[in-house]
Formats: sequence, structure tokens, C-alpha cells
Amino acid sequence: MKPSEFKRYTITAALPYANGPLHIGHLAGCYIPADIYVRYLRSQGRDVAFVGGSDEHGVAITIKARKEGISPQEVVDRYHELMKKSFQEFGISFDHYSRTSAKIHHETASGFFRDLYDKGEFLEQTTEQYFDEEAGQFLADRYIEGTCPKCGNEHAYGDQCERCGSSLSPTELINPKSKLSGNTPVLKETKHWFLDLAKYTDFLKNWILVDHAQDWKNNVLGQCRSWLEAGDGLQARSMTRDMDWGIPVPVEGAEGKVLYVWFDAPIGYISSTKEWAAEKGIDWEPYWRSEDTKLVHFIGKDNIVFHCIVFPAILKTHGGYVLPDNVPANEFLNLEGDKISTSRNWAVWLHEYLEQFPDKQDVLRYVLTANAPETKDNDFTWKDFQSRNNSELVAIYGNFVNRAVVLTHKFFDGNVPGLGTLNDLDKDALEALKSFPEKIAASIERYRFREALSFVMDFARTGNKYLAETEPWKTIKEDRERTGTILNIALNFAANLAIVAEPFLPFTSAKIFGMFGLQGLKWEDAGSHELLQTGQQIFEAALLFDKIEDATVEAQIQKLMATKKQNEISNAVAEPMKDIISYEDFAKLDMRVVKVLTAEPMPKSKKLLRLTVDTGLGVKTVLSGVAEHFQPEDLIGKQVTMLINLAPRKMMGIDSEGMILMAEDRDGSLRLLQPNTPTSEGSTIS
Ligand code: 2FM
Ligand code: ZN
Repeated sequence: MKPSEFKRYTITAALPYANGPLHIGHLAGCYIPADIYVRYLRSQGRDVAFVGGSDEHGVAITIKARKEGISPQEVVDRYHELMKKSFQEFGISFDHYSRTSAKIHHETASGFFRDLYDKGEFLEQTTEQYFDEEAGQFLADRYIEGTCPKCGNEHAYGDQCERCGSSLSPTELINPKSKLSGNTPVLKETKHWFLDLAKYTDFLKNWILVDHAQDWKNNVLGQCRSWLEAGDGLQARSMTRDMDWGIPVPVEGAEGKVLYVWFDAPIGYISSTKEWAAEKGIDWEPYWRSEDTKLVHFIGKDNIVFHCIVFPAILKTHGGYVLPDNVPANEFLNLEGDKISTSRNWAVWLHEYLEQFPDKQDVLRYVLTANAPETKDNDFTWKDFQSRNNSELVAIYGNFVNRAVVLTHKFFDGNVPGLGTLNDLDKDALEALKSFPEKIAASIERYRFREALSFVMDFARTGNKYLAETEPWKTIKEDRERTGTILNIALNFAANLAIVAEPFLPFTSAKIFGMFGLQGLKWEDAGSHELLQTGQQIFEAALLFDKIEDATVEAQIQKLMATKKQNEISNAVAEPMKDIISYEDFAKLDMRVVKVLTAEPMPKSKKLLRLTVDTGLGVKTVLSGVAEHFQPEDLIGKQVTMLINLAPRKMMGIDSEGMILMAEDRDGSLRLLQPNTPTSEGSTIS
């Protein structure tokens, strides 16, 4: 169907696991693209349901609960609210944001399972699954870690390797270990219900690789192809798990088992639509069960198999549901050259970003779209963030709108001047004004949001260039009417820009509409040079974007560097043990509590401090290589520990008569070893 032939649009964005706050990778992966698309559709006057919610089941949640020593319910309650708030703050305009713990979702997902069960679609199989004997529990998915058989990643999960993206089954892992006890799990029999995906191969091949060969993204088609054309074909997948957190399997003999999170989560889109429709007092069914509905799933690349293969197979088998018209998945966003990771705290968290940049939601939306990982993994860097803000948003977009508004106030008291005779520059500008909206729309319709945004910026650049070429600040001196024409065109240009940029920069467009006293403008209004009425009063220029200073991004980079250092310390392994020595060897060491009397830098040495210490047996001089770690005053008067019978060693002309004992931390920093209460100098250490 052509876009105009669809009556309504059901747009979904992946349900994020409610096990942590949101970060920039989430926004770039699917929420900003989905939001751009729905804002555009709404501007086109289309009937849209943009639904999402929190994914509150699965091992991701129970592992987090175990780590924090709280219940899974407490975990999901905490993060559901936090994520919902972040989405609102960044203008992700869900029509409805639900959660999979909702009653309606449990009913809907159970209903789907029961429907497939009654149709005899599941293969009921007793298989051997990993079991942790110490914890007394079967180990679903992420409760097992081991080495990926495909890429050698030593931390692959039981269901997926995050490094190479392969989908795995636990028994494929090399050297599997339980995440609960760290033990090697044993295999034990258990019964589960499997979806026989091989049955759907022909249907899926036709539907994806033939019908959608032209309109789906290459990265999505590529992954589907590798699944569908794999030598051993599609494998049956268990749709149930041995766990106590989730939706109970609604059949007899399934006590202690729940639905697989990837069975229930995508059904969450349907439950969310039901909840939304009930609140609005409308019927949810057309949004899912009518052929003239366009269903689009926005996701990240790790979700492709579930949205293109598993969920469509479920919908198809159930029957009566539309299948997605497109599944525009993005690749991954990295941060400063490293994979974003919640456990390593390697992320820019949305709630923390807003503490630092409270009014810069659009700047982040802009940067994440201009640099979106649409076709390949991409990198977010703070320097790029700064430079896109300063040299694109401030210098081009903000500068253009600001000049048009400020000059109108300066020369015409804020009244929109009339349009006089047009010269070639004016005609070219009006031509551009007509053509840009269509060009931008065409890219959005094809899910090419980076490209669409680059056209929006070209549009702003054209406006800027028009002002630079027509120079209204000069023409005002001898030709007021000419100046009025220029500013009329520039102001209409700015209003047009606000319409087509709204899906990308909604907060900025709202400010521009506010300055112009405009309301309710839609995409169909774009292209007109009569959005502002002659004589209409406009408001003073509002600040759209402001410069981000070096020190500001430097602070963010430093914060990440501190995280990196912290990770290095916690990951570093202790040095291996030295050779075993005898007690006699040990007894030869004479270690004492001593007091530092004086400490002073050694001339011409960066590393050495010259100390005198009271050993209880007399005063000794020691040259200690700690000058880069301690100031003399950090040491003077302190009790420390010392090896006092080390043979004297001459250094820089001075005899060093022993060694102060120190602990070296994993990052190379030194710590004094001090008695925990004051102790007489000369006390022995053994
Ligand atoms: O990868 C994830 O974060 C999943 N929670 C996405 C689920 S999408 C959908 F199926 F609900
Ligand atoms: Zn791998």
C-alpha cells in the first residue's frame, strides 16, 4: 500500500527492560527515530497510536533484584517510573506508555499462549537444561555465562552473545558457569513448550525476503537472511521458562513455569494499545486487526530476530493480526570509542544529562539523529556534541531565526513587513521554501532520519545565505520596502523551518511558534510563504541555542575518564603470589613501627623524599621513592611501618638505611601502612 492508502498507524518502540535508567544508546537506538516518525505522521494529520511501555519480566529483572537485595517488584517499580519520566523529559511523545506487569497485559499474553496451545501449535518437549545445584534452580538465559562458540567472547549469555550478536542456546556455551553461584551447572530434565519456527520458514522467506526486499533496511534484511537461510534452518524455541517471576504458563502441568519474556514482551504493544484505547473510549482492534493499518516496530539490532521472526510467527499463527510493514532497526551507539555498558557505568544517563544541561533536550536529540547508527555502529563523543551544537545549531539554525526576528524588531517594531517586488534572490528563496518540505518528508517516509535532518539544516543554511546575500541591515538605509520584503521572506522561512524541524527539535519549534504567535501548523502548511500575516506583531527573540564551552565538555570527559579508571581498578587482578619462603626466611625481616620526624624533597629528584625516622632504637635516614604520591607534610609526625635491617644502600650520595612499607593499589597509587592506634616506636611486626 502507498502511505496515503493506510487509514491508521500503529507505531511501537521496543519495551526497555525496567532494570536500570535510560541512556543515550536507548534514545539513539529506537526512541528518537520512532518519535520523529510519529511526530511527522501527526503533522501529516494521520491517525496514529504510538505505544510503548516497560518490559518488566525476564532474567534481566531478577538478576538486578538479586544484586541489589530487593524484590523484582521493587526493581520494576523504581525503573518504570524513572524511564517514563525520562521519555517525557526528552519529548518522546508516546500516546501510551504501559508496563508488562499490568493486569491487561497478563491477560492478553496468557490469551495468546492459550490460543496457540489450543491450536496444538506448541511442541511439548522434555529436554535437559542447566540447573544450579547449590541454588536449586534452573538457569534461564542470562543466568548462565560462558564462552561464545562463534566469537570467543568469554562473557556471552545463555541466550545471546552481546559481542557478535549471535543468538545462542545455553548448551552451546563453552565452559558455562552459573551466575548465581559461579559453579558449573549440571543438566537436568524439564518440560517446556516450543514454537516450531521451522514451520514458518517459507512464509517468512516470502514475506521478508521477497515482499519486503526493497523497503526494509539492509541491516535488517541481512540478519533475517542469515536466520532464514542458515544451513540447519530455524530451530524450535522454547516459549516457557523455569522461573517464578513472570506470567504463569496458563496450562495444566506447568506449575513453577512462566512465559518466556520474549513471548510476552512484544504482545505488550497490543496490551498498551488496549489500555490507551480504553482510556480514550475507542476501539483498539482496528489498530491491530485491520489491513489498512500500518504497523511499524522501531527497535535496536539485538531485537531483530524477535520482531521479524518470532513475533510475526506468533501473530500469523494466532491469525487476524496485521504484520509489521517495516521494522527499522538501528545498529548500536558507542560512547567515546567503547561499547555502552550499564554494568561498567559506561553511559551518558539521561537523568544525569538533564542535571548538567537542563534545557538542552533538543541538542541531544539533534546530535543523536545527525550521528544516528542507522546503517552501522556509531560513536558519541562529547567533542562532536559540542561542535554540532556550536557550529550547526547555534551558528546556522539559531543564528538565522534570531537575525530574522531581531531585525524585524529593530526596523519594523516587531510588525511583520509586507512583501514587495521580488528579485531573483527572493524567487530562489521561495522556490527552496517550496521544495524542502517534500524532500524532508520523502526521507522520513523511508526511515532515513539522518538524511532528513541534514535537509532540515540545508534549509536553515539556505535561509542564512539568503540574509547574507540580501543584507537587510544595509538596504534599510535607502530602501525600507526592499528590507521589508527580505524580512517577510526570512520570517516565513523561519516559520516553515519550525514546521519541518518539529519532529526532530520539538522544543525549539515550540519556541519559534511561540515567538510568532502561531498555533496548530501542520506539514501541509509547509511550503507556504504566507504563514505570517503582514502587520502581525511578533514577540521578542527567544534564545534557541547557546554556545557550549570547552570547560563544560571537558568536565563530562573527565567524568568518563574517572569511570574508566574505576573500572580498571575493579577489573585488575592481584599480582600472582611469589615463591613460598620458610619461616626462617621471614624471621630474618626486622619490621618495626617507626615515626617520621622530618621529610624533605631531594634536590634534583622527582621521585625521592629524604626522611628521618625514630625507630625506637635510634634515628635512621631513609630515601623513599614516594615524592610523586605524598607531600612532606603528609608524612611528618606519622607512624608508619619500616623494614629496618635492610642493608644500607647509597643513593645520590646518601645512605638509605631501610625501607618504608607501602601498599600499592591496582591503579599504582600508594598507601601508608599505619598501626590502627598509636603504638610505641620500635614495636616489632610479625
Ligand atoms: O532488549 C530489550 O531491552 C527488550 N526489553 C526489548 C523488548 S521489545 C518488545 F518486544 F517488547
Ligand atoms: Zn559471540
